[in-house]
Amino acid sequence: MSDKLKTKFLGKTIKSPLVLPAGIMDMSFSGLNYAVQNGAGIVTSKSLTLEPRMGHKGPVVAEFEGGLLNCMGLCNPGIEDGLAEINQFKKHSDIPVIVSVFATNILDFLKLTKYVNKSKADFLELNLSCPNVFDEFGIPLSASKEKVGEIISAVKKISKLPIIAKLSPNVYDISEIALSAESAGADALCLINTVGPGMLIDTKMVKPVLFNKFGGLSGPCIKPIALKLIYQTYSAVNIPIIGMGGVKSGEDAVEMLMAGATVIGVGTAVYCRGIEVFNKINDEITKFMKEENYKKLSEIPKLKKL
Ligand SMILES: Cc1cc2nc3c(=O)[nH]c(=O)nc-3n(C[C@H](O)[C@H](O)[C@H](O)COP(=O)(O)O)c2cc1C
Repeated sequence: MSDKLKTKFLGKTIKSPLVLPAGIMDMSFSGLNYAVQNGAGIVTSKSLTLEPRMGHKGPVVAEFEGGLLNCMGLCNPGIEDGLAEINQFKKHSDIPVIVSVFATNILDFLKLTKYVNKSKADFLELNLSCPNVFDEFGIPLSASKEKVGEIISAVKKISKLPIIAKLSPNVYDISEIALSAESAGADALCLINTVGPGMLIDTKMVKPVLFNKFGGLSGPCIKPIALKLIYQTYSAVNIPIIGMGGVKSGEDAVEMLMAGATVIGVGTAVYCRGIEVFNKINDEITKFMKEENYKKLSEIPKLKKL
């Protein structure tokens, strides 16, 4: 991997700006390691809850020409088992790990933070994109700037790790949510989570493709939405952004950087181009830099703020 890709995120030096986002690989330490072996610079766990969750009945993922529709239902092994996998991973690797956690109320976010404080993880990501487990596609927590502020301030008081707030695209004004997260103490933002929900229909069976009927959209079809929201957020705040949503090539990754991202998530593309996609995108970014004569990542220009 080219040295030109080396960069810094929240004080850590990383060998590639590419991030494995939450929920893309399984929760095992070998799953995380697989992404690192293939060129990811930072890895994120599935969103972990206090108790293990089974998730929805299948099919939970459907592919279509624009990307994926998923309704995983936040299945995960629970915080204790999830952190055990991360601690195992950190025994063998110094690659930064983001632990993603999800709760429906402040008290549970605080309980999760106490577990994470005792782990070897590097960053704590608060998944503020889902409303509650029973109504996955209701109004997301991060649709309310007040809720976002309350959760982040409470967690900030006790967290030993830098906090990343993961935001939903399904909001009216992303900049006011981002500003609220920043002033409550978020160290970085991560956006976007899945868009929608949407639905696909099996015309032979005359029924929705997903058992749960509705699912969140990811992949190439959401990239223009992601770029716009990242750009608006970058224009509003001064903290770093993990930009994601539909990145499948070096060109897409460069667009994310120009929109204001510091590092770039590659999720759905892992399903479409295989796990090697990280190395492929690293090579494509390096090629772009060579063609445009950029010596380091930070030389790739950002758009002028709004
Ligand atoms: C199958 C699947 C599972 C996901 N699980 C989570 C999750 O547990 N927590 C979370 O914050 N985001 C989750 N996401 C959202 C991704 O982390 C990412 O924000 C989104 O897919 C957009 O990026 P992409 O287009 O590169 O996939 C999931 C996405 C997919 C496709």
